[in-house]
Amino acid sequence: QHTSVAVIGAGPAGLLLGHILHQAGVPFVILERTSREHLLGRIRAGVLEQGSVDTVAALGLDRNLRTHGMEHRGIYLQYEGERVHLDFKDLVGRTVTVYGQQPLVRDILEEHERIGSTIVFNADNVTPHGITGDEPTITWSVDGVQHQISADFVVGADGYHGVCRRSAPDGRMTAIERDYPFAWLGILADVPPSTDELIYALHPDGFAMHSMRSHEVSRLYLQVDPDESIDGWSDERIWSELQGRMGIPEWTLQEGVITEKSITPMRSFVVSELNVGRMFLVGDAGHIVPPTGAKGLNSAIADVVMLGRALLEHRAGNSAGLAAYSDRALSRQWKVQHFSQWMTEMLHVHREVPDPSARDFRYRSQVAQLEYVSGSIHARRSLAEQYAGLPLD
Ligand code: FAD
Ligand code: DHB
Repeated sequence: QHTSVAVIGAGPAGLLLGHILHQAGVPFVILERTSREHLLGRIRAGVLEQGSVDTVAALGLDRNLRTHGMEHRGIYLQYEGERVHLDFKDLVGRTVTVYGQQPLVRDILEEHERIGSTIVFNADNVTPHGITGDEPTITWSVDGVQHQISADFVVGADGYHGVCRRSAPDGRMTAIERDYPFAWLGILADVPPSTDELIYALHPDGFAMHSMRSHEVSRLYLQVDPDESIDGWSDERIWSELQGRMGIPEWTLQEGVITEKSITPMRSFVVSELNVGRMFLVGDAGHIVPPTGAKGLNSAIADVVMLGRALLEHRAGNSAGLAAYSDRALSRQWKVQHFSQWMTEMLHVHREVPDPSARDFRYRSQVAQLEYVSGSIHARRSLAEQYAGLPLD
């Protein structure tokens, strides 16, 4: 069996690339380790850059996004009892759209099912072979039965824990990364959002954020220590901590039934190159950002647009885009890395620093930074430009 593009991983990156290939009539298969149910059950990200919305729309996958996506003009930054609005539309002429990764993946997957794409779920031991040769192959098994396919190209859309990066030859696709002394406790709650747009709050007890999934469902996050267990966080404790960190006069945070809660570690990670031979990495397989600033999903979409274009150009006889893909995508990604790290450091409290004076110094500097960002038109524009999304190249 042979295909043109073998995509490993059916997250948003792999599924979207499939539609770009389908639109151009390029044969592909997608191999996914988990089940369809597991894939559709993951909650994860919620904010789409304008460029991501445009990409989904150009592929004709935006029917639900258009109906249920919530377009936001900006965000609120909160510190020391102040809540400051940044209007991206006024600042840089662009907006963002709140729409969950979960419904987005469902929309994209259901369209694949409608057009009859080959997506193999529950694929065990997916392994790429011969990626530095002319015709790589992929092997995998389902229910103990071995399968194999050859391909012109292999795309690693298999996330941070994926197999593709690790199948590069020694010394290639090496990673540099940093951990943070913070994690995010995220909840979904059945309560209308208490805000019209997202609130990012710095508080001496730690970061807190108010996001949403619909007019009926709120999504909220709390900074917690990375070694904390969700078992230590009763619903009462979560609401009380959110009230304490987010509360300002003449505003009420409405509480509701918590339907989901989990703790996610935070990490920055970038692979040295996104291409070896006939294998290319996209999305979390090649880079991870801490979630502050909502760049994970958007970066995956940006990669896929760049790689998709390059693959189509290659079929038309021009390989320059494929050769340049890794450098172009990493150049954009490093700017996104810096932005995500900057937002994270500005808004989280270094509770692990033992010296109270050093801790206070950091905190006071962060407040000053937030005052500067709120007060300077140049700084506001810079934040808005990056949050609303950098151009693809
Ligand atoms: P993934 O979504 O990770 O998809 C990779 C797919 O590959 C998965 O389906 C996986 O099962 C499959 N796979 C892995 N290994 C193999 C293998 N060996 N063989 C076959 N298939 C394989 N971003 C934000 O912007 N905001 C957020 O709030 C946010 N919250 C997050 C919470 C969590 C718990 C996590 C893990 C991520 C979060 N992110 C968030 C990041 C965002 O969800 C990711 O950046 C986005 O999912 C990247 O898409 P992807 O397709 O590259 O990778
Ligand atoms: C969400 C996640 C983010 O990381 C962020 O910066 C904003 C919103 C969310 O899940 O809604």
